[in-house]
Amino acid sequence: MNILVMKNKEEASKKAFDLLLADINNGAKVLGLATGSSPVGLYDQIVSSSLDCSQLISINLDEYVGIKPTNPQSYHFFMQQHLFSQKPFAKSFIPDGSNLDADYVTTRYNQILTAHPIDTQILGIGNNGHIGFNEPGTPFDIQTHKVRLTSATIKANSRFFTSSNDVPHAAYTMGIGSIMKAKHIILLAFGEQKADAIAATVNGKITTAVPASVLQRHPNVTILVDQQAAQKL
Ligand code: F6R
Repeated sequence: MNILVMKNKEEASKKAFDLLLADINNGAKVLGLATGSSPVGLYDQIVSSSLDCSQLISINLDEYVGIKPTNPQSYHFFMQQHLFSQKPFAKSFIPDGSNLDADYVTTRYNQILTAHPIDTQILGIGNNGHIGFNEPGTPFDIQTHKVRLTSATIKANSRFFTSSNDVPHAAYTMGIGSIMKAKHIILLAFGEQKADAIAATVNGKITTAVPASVLQRHPNVTILVDQQAAQKL
């Protein structure tokens, strides 16, 4: 694991952009993307750069189940708003949260991942160590699946909704096994609320109780943190 403690979120986002650009210049074509607050600075960097994304493919980690792409809280909407409306990709895949047929959606997504192996995967991390929506206890070898969200995640995500009652209780997510196949993983974490999860990910035992701890087994992981998220390292 390559741990880079940056001065602040902006510096970390710039560094993430430089690393992504280096991968693209070395032939990376398929980017695994995340939503949430952590990658927003990186997406801003992409948008304000001259990078041409029209030959790249993006595959998002996850989507809530039961909300339409037009819902402003959907991850489809988030990606349009922060990246795709300004930098269109050749193809962009996000699980279809409006389709309640979980077998169909997850099988289809696994086929997409097989057809387009991820070169560089962008990740955030939950306060409880989740990656994607792979909550504590998720087996390390699992592929795309439907999950029930924990109350901790519903609470953390309620800041994006009018009330926690509006937060969907399920999501489709790439599995830990799918994430681990990426050639390079760049994980972004900011703020002191991420300090415990980062310490457990980097220095803790590899355990399904901390899903991100599996990254210790990956040969090419870069963790970019600000000083607050690094305070327990
Ligand atoms: C989002 C995702 C989640 C987030 C995590 C951190 O696509 O997969 O795992 O990365 O919940 O969220 P933020 O960045 O909002 O703290």
